Amino acid sequence: HSIVELIRAKRDKRELSENQIKAFISKLVCTNEEDRVHDSQIGAFLMAAFLNGFTFLETSYLTQAMTYSGFTFSWPQEWRGRVVDKHSTGGVGDKVSLILAPALAACGLKVPMVSGRSLDFTGGTLDKLESIPGFSVSFSPDKMRKIVEDAGCCIVGQTEDLVPADKLLYRIRDTTATVEHEDLISASVISKKAAESLDALVLDIKAGSGAFMKDIESARHLALNMVKIGNTFGMKVTGVITRMDTPLGNAVGNALEVAEAIDALQNKGPPDLHEIVLTLGGVLIQSTGYAESLDEGKKQIEESIASGSALKIFHRMIIGQGTSPTVAQELCYGDKWKCLPRAQSIRNITAESSGYLENIDAMAVAKVCHALGCGRTQPGMSVKFEPGVVLRKKPGDLVAQGDILMELHNQEISNGVLVNLIKSLQDACLIVQNPPEPKPLIIETLV
Ligand code: URA
Repeated sequence: HSIVELIRAKRDKRELSENQIKAFISKLVCTNEEDRVHDSQIGAFLMAAFLNGFTFLETSYLTQAMTYSGFTFSWPQEWRGRVVDKHSTGGVGDKVSLILAPALAACGLKVPMVSGRSLDFTGGTLDKLESIPGFSVSFSPDKMRKIVEDAGCCIVGQTEDLVPADKLLYRIRDTTATVEHEDLISASVISKKAAESLDALVLDIKAGSGAFMKDIESARHLALNMVKIGNTFGMKVTGVITRMDTPLGNAVGNALEVAEAIDALQNKGPPDLHEIVLTLGGVLIQSTGYAESLDEGKKQIEESIASGSALKIFHRMIIGQGTSPTVAQELCYGDKWKCLPRAQSIRNITAESSGYLENIDAMAVAKVCHALGCGRTQPGMSVKFEPGVVLRKKPGDLVAQGDILMELHNQEISNGVLVNLIKSLQDACLIVQNPPEPKPLIIETLV
């Protein structure tokens, strides 16, 4: 009865009380099936919230209730000031966490990262990592602590013990068109980070066609909201708005992105990806006081990659999370494609005219990858690891007619569907006659 009232109140644009929000979250995660809210009620509540939004107070209560729906960490005294994390609002080709978590750990920080799965058209860090044989993202808080103690970092998912409310809401938002709302994103991101009991957090707020926030103004609004809510938990939060009009790096797709992340850890990554890793890492090292300036922080991250120490931590972390030492060795120091699942067929997308490549639309690439099976259309369905898109040219490049712009890696897709996907990728490329103005990747930093 109270749940129906709560849905009605939000539907009718009334403000919910702290008690109503707490009651909803406790009925969401309750183990007794009879008392639990139904999926249909969760969907209705999310849609009412999506359409009518929350006040700042409601978002704060929701974030708190979600955080305390499970276990919250307390860390050893000697880690004080050094427990940090990064979270992105979601983009296309965004494999930054796979590189940044071990790089930060190599710089002496502790990174107990609770990440997410693919949401809507965006890729999910957990789905990418699960393409590594043996890798698990589901651990008890105790085991998670042991992995962080041993490797310096971990990348895990929400569980029944850890932010279970986000696990449940995330899964339903993904398939009910209720993802791209500022208040729901803020509560989802900050609850995961608050449960980690962080000293400092950097948020990568994506803005552009391949992001939930399409323009800088709405990204700024989201950033300020998240920084404000994060601060209420005593974390030092910095928001960095970054451009997401074109995919980040070259690879989009689960296993393809893991391969590119390993390249980046071997100091052979694409420059745009490297720039984001250095900036977000630099911000965090500066926030903790372990560097006096952003540049000094960036330098520490750069050295952790160039020296191979970040890769060493990644190797240790994946073994800690279930990958066998033989696979980990091959993946990090041998031939990674011996271990990662790879698509059976590759089709090239070529330039229809000569000129400068002005953009490759991130959203169009994301939709193709989704159609190839990289994301979900039903809650809980499995994703495919092999397919995806690899960019062979990036915005600003001079191209000649017939040059290969992209590769489409596909697995078990009919020819009819494939023809349409290739056409979508072709249409995603904008070729112009004059060199385009380079656009900065890092747009703004907010504290
Ligand atoms: N990342 C999250 O964890 N949650 C969202 O809602 C969006 C991005």
